[in-house]
Amino acid sequence: MLSLFLPASCAQILVTCAYKSLCQQALLSGNDVVLQCDHLQAYWYFSSFQGEAPFLVSSLPNIKKLPGGSLQLNKPQPSQTGLYRCEDNNTALVVEYEIDFQDVTMLHITHKGLGQNPLQNQSLSLGRKEIIFTHWEPWQDCNRCGVPGERKRLGYCYIQESLENPVPCWLYLGDEKLWSSRLQPEMQVEACLVPCNHSKEIIQPFFTFDISKLGQSTSNMQLTCPLASIYR
Ligand SMILES: *[C@@H]1O[C@H](CO)[C@@H](O)[C@H](O)[C@H]1NC(C)=O
Ligand SMILES: *[C@@H]1O[C@H](CO)[C@@H](O)[C@H](O)[C@H]1NC(C)=O
Ligand SMILES: *[C@@H]1O[C@H](CO)[C@@H](O)[C@H](O)[C@H]1NC(C)=O
Repeated sequence: MLSLFLPASCAQILVTCAYKSLCQQALLSGNDVVLQCDHLQAYWYFSSFQGEAPFLVSSLPNIKKLPGGSLQLNKPQPSQTGLYRCEDNNTALVVEYEIDFQDVTMLHITHKGLGQNPLQNQSLSLGRKEIIFTHWEPWQDCNRCGVPGERKRLGYCYIQESLENPVPCWLYLGDEKLWSSRLQPEMQVEACLVPCNHSKEIIQPFFTFDISKLGQSTSNMQLTCPLASIYR
């Protein structure tokens, strides 16, 4: 109901990639996303990394092809991690995305002001020299101005082999059934104090964060639109 009145705050994240390229991206599950493909007669195929052959995505209930050709995923699940391929009407590649929907219910939340530390780098014991680490996004804007507020940043789980490019954890692991408590996305919160800028304040998103939940299990946490899109 609320979304009827607050359509603008219901932001979706748009993922883009250059024509005929493959882009890799870590995101959080449960948050709507649009994968861009500018082709009116686009065909989208999906394959997870469980050795599955690509199939046309039109059959999935939470996925919708938009009129311009892009693909909208509503509350994507960690199981929807994999390769999304957009082809034109002659089966030629337009664009490809490898998306890792990291489990939002596993989000490791820490608050600097409470002396809580983010996760540390850890090695992954697969015989090679992989490091599991958190790739942090920039800090988001302070949620208030003129008075003490809070700001947050998201961090995604990545794995890096010594000199290779880092890869989002579940894209790296594929169907390797490996479990480590280090395999988690993260969110870090800290205090902030910024002067008010009224022209900017109007476009500030509303961000609620319940401090009393810190340190407890986050499995019941809901990070849904429109109260707080986690991406801003
Ligand atoms: C594909 O789409 C283009 C542009 O809309 C069109 O000119 C062409 O005939 C189509 N090809 C096929 C095989 O349908
Ligand atoms: C953790 O690993 C990443 C990737 O190898 C590296 O960039 C970062 O500096 C490491 N952090 C620490 C504290 O060792
Ligand atoms: C206030 O915000 C506007 C829009 O973001 C920006 O153009 C302007 O420079 C800001 N002013 C100050 C004093 O930060």
